[in-house]
Amino acid sequence: MNLDGRRVLVIGGTSGIGLGVARAALAEGARVTVASSGAAKVRAALDRLAGAEGAVLDVTDEGAVAAFFAGRDGFDHIAFTAADWGQVHHVPLGETDIRAAASIFDVRVWGAVAVAKHAAPGMTPGGTLILTNGMAAHRPQPGMAVTVAMAGAIEHLVKGLAVELAPVRVNGVCPGAIRTEAWDELPAEFRAVQEARLAGQPLPRVGETTECAEAYLTLMRNGYVTGQTLRVEGGWSLSG
Ligand SMILES: NC(=O)c1ccc[n+]([C@@H]2O[C@H](COP(=O)([O-])OP(=O)(O)OC[C@H]3O[C@@H](n4cnc5c(N)ncnc54)[C@H](OP(=O)(O)O)[C@@H]3O)[C@@H](O)[C@H]2O)c1
Repeated sequence: MNLDGRRVLVIGGTSGIGLGVARAALAEGARVTVASSGAAKVRAALDRLAGAEGAVLDVTDEGAVAAFFAGRDGFDHIAFTAADWGQVHHVPLGETDIRAAASIFDVRVWGAVAVAKHAAPGMTPGGTLILTNGMAAHRPQPGMAVTVAMAGAIEHLVKGLAVELAPVRVNGVCPGAIRTEAWDELPAEFRAVQEARLAGQPLPRVGETTECAEAYLTLMRNGYVTGQTLRVEGGWSLSG
């Protein structure tokens, strides 16, 4: 399925992996809209994405999500990369504030549910909604039990939605460490742990946003793939 002229929405497309997806889709001739919650961030992204449109959208506000999709023509493909790193949780279980921990589901899981609910009715049959989880779902580390559960929930949400929303396709991308602003801003101690871990994987380096973006485009192009999550993680799954 060629992306030329297709309408592609990237929610979370104003930085990191989403910005990479928007760039790659534009390069293939798609009509791209990027959306995220910060107006300044949307403006800054549009300065870097010639030809794209932008919109302010907070996916934790279901009313705003409903209004956003009600006011637009349907999209062929939607990539959902929205995430708030402030909520990512590295806390031993014994010190976990359960209400605060629950909030890490707000953007990545409940935000994705809201987008699926309100976007799917207008989407092109055969188009795809692509969610984003992370290798935390498969390679847990201490202090991250709730984050692991959140990432795993996204992978299973993909399967449930693929059955419920067909013929719209629903897929996922599961990144390992990808060089984004979030990677650059990791606390030094946590980053050192990640770098030591990367050295032991088959491809011993951080992935680039261009490499991760290609996975989203592959899932957009291939009309016979649904309910799948594609790992882009340098072989992390195979390392000891
Ligand atoms: N980078 C990695 O190494 C890595 C590894 C594993 C998994 N992942 C996953 O990949 C996804 C993207 O990560 P990233 O590194 O590209 O993150 P990022 O650069 O921080 O981008 C996150 C995007 O989400 C938007 N966002 C945040 N809250 C939002 C909300 N309430 N509504 C709408 N948009 C919102 C942000 O813009 P605003 O602030 O303007 O809203 C931004 O555009 C995440 O799900 C992450 O867990 C990344």
